[in-house]
Amino acid sequence: MIKENIAALRKMLDEYNYQYYILDNPSVPDSEYDRLFRELQALEQQHPELITKDSPTQRIGAAPLNEFQEVEHKQAMLSLDNAFSDEELFVFNKRICERLHVEQVSYFCEPKLDGLAINLLYENGILVQAATRGDGFKGEDVTQNVRTISSIPLHLRGNDYPNSIEIRGEVIMPLKGFNAMNAKAHTLDEKVFANPRNAAAGSLRQLDPKITAQRPLAFFSYGIGDPGEYVLPNTQSELIEQLGKWGIRISPLGYVANNIEDCARYHADLLRKRAQLDYEIDGVVYKVNRLDWQQQLGFVARAPRFALAHKFPAQEEMTIVESVDFQVGRTGALTPVARLKPVVVGGVTVRNATLHNMDEIERKDVRIHDTVIVRRAGDVIPEVVSVVLSKRPEHAEKIKLPKKCPVCGAEVLHHPGEAVARCADGLLCPAQRAASIKHFASKSALDIEGLGEKLVEQLVELDIIKTPADLYNLTIEKLAQMPRMGQKSAENIMQALESSKKTTLHKFIYALGIREVGTQTALALAEYFQDLNKLMHADEETLQQVSDVGVVVANNIAHFFKMQRHQALIQALQTAGIHWDVVKKSTHQPLSGKTFVLTGTLINLTREEAKERLQALGAKVSESVSSKT
Ligand code: IVH
Repeated sequence: MIKENIAALRKMLDEYNYQYYILDNPSVPDSEYDRLFRELQALEQQHPELITKDSPTQRIGAAPLNEFQEVEHKQAMLSLDNAFSDEELFVFNKRICERLHVEQVSYFCEPKLDGLAINLLYENGILVQAATRGDGFKGEDVTQNVRTISSIPLHLRGNDYPNSIEIRGEVIMPLKGFNAMNAKAHTLDEKVFANPRNAAAGSLRQLDPKITAQRPLAFFSYGIGDPGEYVLPNTQSELIEQLGKWGIRISPLGYVANNIEDCARYHADLLRKRAQLDYEIDGVVYKVNRLDWQQQLGFVARAPRFALAHKFPAQEEMTIVESVDFQVGRTGALTPVARLKPVVVGGVTVRNATLHNMDEIERKDVRIHDTVIVRRAGDVIPEVVSVVLSKRPEHAEKIKLPKKCPVCGAEVLHHPGEAVARCADGLLCPAQRAASIKHFASKSALDIEGLGEKLVEQLVELDIIKTPADLYNLTIEKLAQMPRMGQKSAENIMQALESSKKTTLHKFIYALGIREVGTQTALALAEYFQDLNKLMHADEETLQQVSDVGVVVANNIAHFFKMQRHQALIQALQTAGIHWDVVKKSTHQPLSGKTFVLTGTLINLTREEAKERLQALGAKVSESVSSKT
């Protein structure tokens, strides 16, 4: 009974796995899979004698190795001839037609996956060995790592598989997983991989399979090695179809082209689709579709005559960093940009590449005049991946963070432990004007209704407003000139501006857009100082007395108010008529120490009003639920 139960669970899990990983079409939610998986685990724990090596619970758990064993492939793993243009493709076809004495050849076309080749040996339908390509004849035994890859079945489906067969394909790292893995590695200060192929290779060559199991690896098969006693079908496409029936993952992009012109079209189509795929491909592989013709054509040196890799433009190239500039973003973040000796990457001329931030520059040790590898994948901004150290010239210069903002000349702040350096001028730096004015007008700040984001951008663009104080010099006439602005809307905005003049100290502090001073901190500051002048003249030590204010925030605040232009702005705003009542700290604070999160629609009051009332009673209002809520 238990035995049957276990068998039934494994069968269901295999089926769901097949639907999920091979067909890419799950029929049950993950939670159902997890539930059955745990059920099987529990039964196996009670009856360890019933555990089999190909049970879905047995993917992870092998002990770390000291080294990989050498494995001889039953049939050599060869490489492919390359073509870089349609002309070369036509030459390839002509040679084949001549050799076969035929007019036209049909080809099986597939993406050329950018990962690493793997040979899977299935005996009696069970995965018994997985090996890397190595020198083509002998590779490394990475079986226990490959067993952790969910899209590689531990046993074949059906009952018509041969006693022994070598199945071949590519282990890849999908982009989503690659990016997430690198982002995590970055925050933990661990090794970041330059590209998905290196990441896949590095992950598969881990001696501890538990590490491999955490890496987001996937697999697609493109053929077989030694077929054992499997009687081959007539064509490559039928062979691939058969692999699919055995539960092996094959590319959904496989295609039978009737002639070479059709191949060229497939190549052009796939190049267009390249950026949308969740994995990297570096070209197309064509194989003569008829297997008897493949045999007849045979091999030259290390590559088959019947196949060709038609490459896409490379996504990585080498060039030289000529200089480095710093760009200031809308939030004041300074981004170092490498100015490059122009180079064609992925078919596009690249002159600039991002260096992300100072931490990244340090980590990659990029210097001016260095030769670097530049990468441009899909629609992503080109980036400097790494330095070719062997080519570093003697006059290579270290990159220094500028002391002053290149846009407005304000001081640049770079707090220890923070990757990003910023312009200290949150409000008036031209690079940040629109963002800071939008912030000033937002609901939790001065709440200027009708002053939308687009309108602010247009007003800044046309130089009609430069600072939040300029908002109060707007007139109906000026506003009415703006596109899609009627008289009535202009009047409404003027009315909203007038109403916004009466505010509260904490809203005003928040509206200034001091870095890391949110509504909560603004309220704490208002209650502590009760007077703007006192806040403006407080030293960092005093500021740190305020709840919520640590070293970094205290430094941000003190810096902000020290700047002449911020003092002038505050003066201008007050002259424009902005005022507030003296803050009286409420003594009745029954909700102090409690944190609230507001969601959904409230009856009779807006969320903003509810937030204010809660805060007045001493509560903290947070955006998301935490253990303190
Ligand atoms: S067929 C006889 N098909 O490219 C060689 N290879 O440059 C049979 N590759 O080592 C290979 N995608 O790792 C084939 N759809 C595909 C491929 C593919 C990627 C890799 C494979 C091979 C290398 C050869």
